[in-house]
Amino acid sequence: MKQQTQALEDVLQAFYQSDSPDPVLVESILYSIEAGGKRLRPLILLDLLQGFGLKIEEGHLKVAAALEMIHTGSLIHDDLPAMDDDDYRRGQLTNHKKYGEAAAILAGDSLFLDAFALLAQAQLPAPKVVKLINLLSLASGTYGMVGGQSLDIRSEGQAITLVQLEQIHHHKTGRLLHFPFVAAGILADVDEQTAEDLDQLGQLLGLAFQVRDDILDETASFEELGKTPKKDVAAQKATYPAFYGLDAAKTLLGDLLAQIDRLLQKLEEQGFDAQIMKERIEGLAIGN
Ligand code: IPE
Ligand code: IPE
Ligand code: MG
Ligand code: MG
Ligand code: MG
Repeated sequence: MKQQTQALEDVLQAFYQSDSPDPVLVESILYSIEAGGKRLRPLILLDLLQGFGLKIEEGHLKVAAALEMIHTGSLIHDDLPAMDDDDYRRGQLTNHKKYGEAAAILAGDSLFLDAFALLAQAQLPAPKVVKLINLLSLASGTYGMVGGQSLDIRSEGQAITLVQLEQIHHHKTGRLLHFPFVAAGILADVDEQTAEDLDQLGQLLGLAFQVRDDILDETASFEELGKTPKKDVAAQKATYPAFYGLDAAKTLLGDLLAQIDRLLQKLEEQGFDAQIMKERIEGLAIGN
């Protein structure tokens, strides 16, 4: 496991070793990349591939690293004064607090675009790479994370319906968490039924993860989060605790995680080794 995390870090590092016209841009990108997020999205991809019996290769690591680049870019932009206006991320000052707003916008721009070069460089069959480029772009842009972020910002202080709240979470967070499940299906050449199960797993986890993030914003400390807590109420964000109350949000998270566990069990019966994934999902549970 540790070995895999290190291999992922190496791939991210290696991409930024070439000469850039502006070394400060590279420094600011690596400041956020190396701040040490949980790496949940890329690790889920690697867990799944191993669960399907694949040996992790350089090409797989590039797909995983590309996903982490998009995610990190999304966090840099999410923290900007015009967006959520946050001072801390991953336990350190946000990118714009350290390098200034223009630099942070550009670091995010770079990460969004660099991800596709890295993905295109993956040593994998070309038709698979093309599929993955398409899927990652759709999960990231207008039809994915950016679309959700746009809804999120426009919904601040608004009375919204549960359907609209689901739409926000499904896009701003769900799509990037869903990507590793679809990508794993493509890379492991799974059958149609398994692809459907993976799709459902990704949808459930995407929603569960943002519900969890919303709960933690209200209940966890700065030390636990590495970012300032209790920001969502202040910004009148559309969240599950705001919509349902904290207890009901916790119950929903428990239900979603239980559904995920059941689906993993189903995959296990079809020969998938679900052990590492199960442990990772257990780690997302929140006690009362
Ligand atoms: C935070 O994601 C933003 C959301 C989509 C909720 P993570 O909690 O995965 O952040 P890092 O990568 O560990 O910093
Ligand atoms: C983040 O949602 C979604 C992204 C696409 C980055 P949040 O705004 O709730 O994430 P945090 O709480 O700042 O990490
Ligand atoms: Mg936000
Ligand atoms: Mg935010
Ligand atoms: Mg949040």
